[in-house]
Amino acid sequence: MAANRQILLLPGDGIGPEVMAETRRVIDWLGKKRGVRFDIAEDIVGGAALDAHGTPLHDKTMAKAKAIGCVLFGAVGGPKWDNLPFAQKPERGLLRLRKEMDLFANLRPAVCFDALVGASTLKPEVVQGLDIIILRELTGGLYFGEPRGITDIGNGQRRGVNTQVYTTSEIRRVAEVGFELARKRRRKVTSLEKANVMESGVLWREEVTKLHREKFSDVALEHMYADNGAMQLVRNPKQFDVMVTDNLFGDILSDVAAMLTGSLGMLPSASLGAADATGRRLALYEPVHGSAPDIAGKGVANPLAMILSLAMALRYSFDLPDNADAVENGVRAVLAEGVRTGDIMQPGATKVSTRAMGDRLLAALDRAA
Ligand code: IPM
Ligand code: MG
Repeated sequence: MAANRQILLLPGDGIGPEVMAETRRVIDWLGKKRGVRFDIAEDIVGGAALDAHGTPLHDKTMAKAKAIGCVLFGAVGGPKWDNLPFAQKPERGLLRLRKEMDLFANLRPAVCFDALVGASTLKPEVVQGLDIIILRELTGGLYFGEPRGITDIGNGQRRGVNTQVYTTSEIRRVAEVGFELARKRRRKVTSLEKANVMESGVLWREEVTKLHREKFSDVALEHMYADNGAMQLVRNPKQFDVMVTDNLFGDILSDVAAMLTGSLGMLPSASLGAADATGRRLALYEPVHGSAPDIAGKGVANPLAMILSLAMALRYSFDLPDNADAVENGVRAVLAEGVRTGDIMQPGATKVSTRAMGDRLLAALDRAA
């Protein structure tokens, strides 16, 4: 029977296929034990697609992603493809998906699970109870701005150029998502840019201020320079609720935020497009961690960020908040039992493989069902 809920799995490279395999088991569990069924399609991306088709994202895969509308993405890249020309790098596959699906709003929640307080490099009192969201603009700014490129300017000199560019509507649509998220949380938005040195930052600040005044005066808004934001994230991260920022600053700040939670292996993300007339958004869900070639194929990767990304899909693409809660509570339960992959290992805990983490999670889900 057709499930009407469709997901495209793109496991990618490195540890991507390993963490996706455990996520797939959770999807099967949802069907079997909770009657929540999905139609699953699967395809290749990144280095895997380069090897098979000579391009990091085949046009057919791109079309499939748009038609299905919800993508679960593993990770791309690895040393094998490091020296390719820019346009062929595995990462271009991911950037093309983001751009062509117009996934401008990238939600990166940094939540510190109680059981992992000791796994962070920061003091327990700094991270205990942490629950913030970094909202990164994902389809504009330096990543896509024109002109860009490397040119020969003679005399053995070359010139590399990228352009930081934002328009009013690009700023407003992502800020709007930020204010709406904050309304369901602690009603505070911190907007980050470098208005002290960049015109695009001045515009960012002005447009966010204007939108706030027009539509969101019930939410507290503060502005912060992005460099100060990086410092505040490690000094006192709990001062934040929703942090809204551009593509490059968001890339950097979300890696900082990851370490507050103990490990990059714990952080999920959701990338959302604009809502259509029926309220549906194109979406891609991926762990914030990369393909981790150093541990790929060893069965030791942490599958939880990928599984928590599935939980975000249940919440934002399928309006199944109870099932999202169930999966997140399952993760909380295995962590509380002291079950750990290597990246979050702590003294006295039980170190397990990727597969065994999946087994233990399914057991916890069964117990709670
Ligand atoms: C991320 C990654 C990507 C980015 C890479 C893999 C292109 O670092 O999602 O944070 O820079 O956006
Ligand atoms: Mg990054």
